[in-house]
Amino acid sequence: MLMESMALSEREGLFPTLNENNIDQIIAQLSLKEKASLVVGDGYKSMLSRVLRTKVPVPGAAGMTRAVPRLGIPAIVLSDGPAGVRIEPKRRGQEGTFFCTGFPIGSLLASTWNTEMVEKVGEAIGQEALEYGVDVMLAPGMNIQRNPLCGRNFEYFSEDPLLSGRTAVAYVRGVQSQGVGTSVKHFAPNNQETNRLWNDSRVDEDVLRQIYLKNFEIAIKESEPWTVMASYNRLNGVHTQEDRWLLTKVLREEWGFKGLVMTDWTGKRNTPSQIQAGCDLMEPGGKSQIKELVKAVKSGELQEADLDICVRRVLELIVKTPTFKDHVPSGKPDLEAHAAVAREAAEEGIVLLKNELGTLPLAKGMTAALFGVGSYQLLAGGTGSGHVHRPYVINLDQGLAEEGIQANEPLSSLYANYIQKNSPKKSFMSNMLGSPACAEMPLSRENVEKAVGEADYAILTLSRQAGEGGDRHLEDDFLLSDAEKQMLKDICEVYHARGKRVIVVLNVGGVVETASWKHLPDAIVLAWQPGQEGGNALARILSGSICPSGRLPVTFPVDYFDLPSSAHFPYDYKGGSSMIPSGKKIVDGENVGYTEYKEGFQVGYRYFSQPGTPEVSYPFGFGLSYTQFEVGEPVWTEDSVSVTVTNIGPVAGKEVVIVKNPYLSAFGKTRLLQPGESQTLVLQ
Ligand code: GLC
Repeated sequence: MLMESMALSEREGLFPTLNENNIDQIIAQLSLKEKASLVVGDGYKSMLSRVLRTKVPVPGAAGMTRAVPRLGIPAIVLSDGPAGVRIEPKRRGQEGTFFCTGFPIGSLLASTWNTEMVEKVGEAIGQEALEYGVDVMLAPGMNIQRNPLCGRNFEYFSEDPLLSGRTAVAYVRGVQSQGVGTSVKHFAPNNQETNRLWNDSRVDEDVLRQIYLKNFEIAIKESEPWTVMASYNRLNGVHTQEDRWLLTKVLREEWGFKGLVMTDWTGKRNTPSQIQAGCDLMEPGGKSQIKELVKAVKSGELQEADLDICVRRVLELIVKTPTFKDHVPSGKPDLEAHAAVAREAAEEGIVLLKNELGTLPLAKGMTAALFGVGSYQLLAGGTGSGHVHRPYVINLDQGLAEEGIQANEPLSSLYANYIQKNSPKKSFMSNMLGSPACAEMPLSRENVEKAVGEADYAILTLSRQAGEGGDRHLEDDFLLSDAEKQMLKDICEVYHARGKRVIVVLNVGGVVETASWKHLPDAIVLAWQPGQEGGNALARILSGSICPSGRLPVTFPVDYFDLPSSAHFPYDYKGGSSMIPSGKKIVDGENVGYTEYKEGFQVGYRYFSQPGTPEVSYPFGFGLSYTQFEVGEPVWTEDSVSVTVTNIGPVAGKEVVIVKNPYLSAFGKTRLLQPGESQTLVLQ
């Protein structure tokens, strides 16, 4: 009988049964093999349960620990991912579905600059995890956005350590308030996908501490995440998962971290050295690692006392979990309420970049010519472990219809037919990790001229997909493609000739080039990848039901090569997978791939705010509103600054206050202020 199915009451009496007060006694009872099994995960039996046909508590969850039933030690469940719980939406032989709310991506959450909002998202995710039987969420992803081409920036928050750290704190507090753990990742610095298993991030220690570790330090000290996930890569020559300086000296001795460190989903490496470094749990885990540990202790290579330290942390984690506390998952979280949270967060994180000639908000009862595949097939999130099996995605055309703005025919049918014929075929991998975007539909000027008569304005959505396992490219990714540029030019010429406005929506997971074309449209809205309710949120911003209040958490440079990191980012591995850069052979132990963080502190606005540096297209913290605010003189105390914000404009809105001296030192966001209303913010 599996331990998971044994209630706590049945465990009594067989042997001493684990509880939060007898961990040392339990460790003394454990055999060496049992100890080794506790620090090695139970493989892919959960993540791949659909194909392996394994019987597991939560099919599709990323991983589990191993049980020791005779001592009342259950296996616990670890699940991705930052934008929502990632588990199989259907279970063989079980009624009902297990869809999870698709929340906005990390970059959008940071764009809210609203930690209360992020905490609400965390609470909802924690709720769903709890009710679906998950014990630890493998989230938030929070690596610094060092360079726009990193394929996983969508999951991450910002170029700035304070904004990234505080956003992570809010997320962790929200999830853990529901009695479910988190795992701040990927510790660190893991700022590219190319060659991610082997890449050696070579970073000066001061830069490492003040930029790439600082956000993790804030998260650890201010929210006490139950776990930390050590990244795949190397740091200054040492795999982070075997780096005692990082995992024990810095994380534990300096920052006071009391939780567990697990690996990212890595194959077997040097397991004894991972244990000695203070890495407590090898995920996904395999039997060979158990054998290796037993052999290492028996040979004296590994002290059993060192193994016991990790075993203790595994048990300390287990006793906190819902599974250990015999929580009975309902399988029925309040998805409707969580959808509302997802929409609210998206509304707060969408950024208005341009709005001229009073283009926005759009008048209701009008008709919009929607161009771009993304107008009809919104990218709700990125791909990889950050994917979510959402119950639905609201597209822009649907959201606008809700707001009384019709998408004009026959343009919509043209796109619908194209999408149907050209969407990437579903596969096992795309079901598990999300699909690539449908290629953009070629648009002739004739199409544009046909549509202009039937519509009051044009909305062009430009989409970008990115994800785990590969970095982005310059051409046709960071840069607009020639076809996209031509499409934008045609639409602007034709609609402007008729005195009609053009709005561009950026449905992207990361920074794109904007400087060369932003003069063309009348308005530009950065929607990011806004989750399953994205179409509703975007439409409510465009229609003015919601006043935009998002601000950029990252700089949009004029030119990619203006970025100091562009000289030290492996974009030349075009097409290289995250495992092996194109054209290179991995020989373990030999340094076959490294990235030198030669730009040092020159990350984002830390560089561009210096005199003599290039102009940017849109600066860190930038975002427009439909109303105006007056921010009073700051009043400083020893550890805080207070400012009074007044809405002096025509509509209700929220304002973000950003304090830099010279780097970001505090920020806050007002509640919704009606015209004439004031609020005093006290920022720390
Ligand atoms: C992946 C990711 C990590 C994820 C884990 C489990 O490779 O790097 O973010 O949580 O494996 O899916």
